[in-house]
Amino acid sequence: MQWTRKDLLSIYDLSAEEITCILDTAEKFKEVSERRVKKVPALRGMTVVNFFVEPSTRTRVSFELAEQRLSADVVNMQAQASSLLKGETLLDTVKNIEALQVDLVVMRHSAPGAQNFIADHLKCGVVNAGDGAHEHPTQALLDLFTIREKKGSFKGLNVTILGDILHSRVARSNIWGLLKLGANVTLAGPSTLVPREFESIGCRVCHHLDEAIKDADVVNLLRIQHERQTVGFFPSTGEYAAWFGIKGSTMAKMKDDVLIMHPGPINRDVELASEVADGSNSVILEQVTNGLAVRMAVLFLIAGVRK
Ligand code: CP
Repeated sequence: MQWTRKDLLSIYDLSAEEITCILDTAEKFKEVSERRVKKVPALRGMTVVNFFVEPSTRTRVSFELAEQRLSADVVNMQAQASSLLKGETLLDTVKNIEALQVDLVVMRHSAPGAQNFIADHLKCGVVNAGDGAHEHPTQALLDLFTIREKKGSFKGLNVTILGDILHSRVARSNIWGLLKLGANVTLAGPSTLVPREFESIGCRVCHHLDEAIKDADVVNLLRIQHERQTVGFFPSTGEYAAWFGIKGSTMAKMKDDVLIMHPGPINRDVELASEVADGSNSVILEQVTNGLAVRMAVLFLIAGVRK
């Protein structure tokens, strides 16, 4: 298929064919990162600005490496050291970046929809690196890539997403991607963090851990997002870990070949015990590796629309 989007803002916007196009392109770029010389000239002469208005380790480093491996010129902008602190608006900030003939802006922001807003006002491409509790499209794409690599296809696959669904942009992006590709999606966790409303979009909602995991081919665990919770959604992290944490003993209740996934950062021994996070079913670090190939694919496809 011909890629036509100048921006990547959400998985909700994409068709199954577009998602598959990104995953197929990422497969080719994964091979580049396995070479001795990990570089191709695809974005030579293009400039990318990474603008992170929220903390990040994996996404920021992964985007920067992806841009370097595609031979782009890369500028990293920290919100704390920008004129946002002097009261400049977000729109003025990004319009000034664009005036420097920048081709792509990769942005993370705490406000849902911030990237949609700037994409409407900029001619350059915009890639969403996470917007509040709304979407984190490249995280979902790397999760989908990892699942496809390990399980072959999505049709009929049982994927359980466990944890703080309410505050999770990773959950939202994964839900849209998995449903579009034909997987069965179960959302699990305490009723305060996993409301029944999600059933209306085609997910199964489950408030009992054993029930949620027994037929799962994939369990994707989400971090408890203390920074986005304004009230207590459960009595204590100890109680959460007791009822919904995945421990070594929980593995006996799951399929032998279940994939254990987590987007990071992990709250060790809250949602996930270290023995499982670092165990043989875990693909958590493979997710990170695949994120590089997926981000190279996204940047390559979007940059191709600008050429
Ligand atoms: N998964 C993820 O988005 O991690 P970072 O916040 O470290 O980028």
